[in-house]
Amino acid sequence: MEIAPCRTEDLGVLEDVMPSSSVDGSHAARFARQEAGESTYLIPWLNGRPVGHAEVRWTGCAAPEVRAVHSGCPEINGLLVWPERLRSRGVGSGLVRAAEELARARGVEVMGLGVGIDNPRAAALYARLGYRSTVAYVDRWAYVDQTGVRHERADVCTFLVKELPGPVAEPSP
Ligand SMILES: CC(C)(COP(=O)(O)OP(=O)(O)OC[C@H]1O[C@@H](n2cnc3c(N)ncnc32)[C@H](O)[C@@H]1OP(=O)(O)O)[C@@H](O)C(=O)NCCC(=O)NCCS
Repeated sequence: MEIAPCRTEDLGVLEDVMPSSSVDGSHAARFARQEAGESTYLIPWLNGRPVGHAEVRWTGCAAPEVRAVHSGCPEINGLLVWPERLRSRGVGSGLVRAAEELARARGVEVMGLGVGIDNPRAAALYARLGYRSTVAYVDRWAYVDQTGVRHERADVCTFLVKELPGPVAEPSP
């Protein structure tokens, strides 16, 4: 498996393989934030096909409850492995690790992510990867259905944070 930032030419195949009706979470919206320098949209590839995604939002979580206590903490948003038969093979963990490595390369020593209170399997994975619960918040998002009608959603979530190890110190001469 390879993990690489999304490119312009990937948008078509992403939409074919993993269509998204989310307003802020569409592939185009995530790519536009990457182009603006606000995020890095990571895509895992297996045998030439995209098998998921994760957007590292350098601007942090949008929820005010989280921003109040974690300003400056980037967020892994939109973590997905698709199709389902490819889950539990390490792709999701690989995406989280890739996001953490990007952060360390930027000198950022903390990473955050949100998980729905109704998603205990994902929460168990994040706990195994070293993430600890911090603050409860409401994730407000919207999607547009096939008839063009916009729907607002509000999911109760927990924000998790992990301290990342700093750069390895050079041995003194
Ligand atoms: C959560 C998710 C990204 C993890 O990716 P993954 O490639 O399955 O993760 P890994 O293989 O690295 O680790 C698997 C572990 O993730 C957890 N997990 C979370 N949701 C899971 C799911 N729907 N199916 C399988 N494992 C899941 C399990 O604890 C699992 O452990 P196990 O293999 O011992 O059963 C993936 O399962 C997924 O896309 N789920 C649906 C979308 C989602 O819930 N995203 C997270 C939003 S916070």
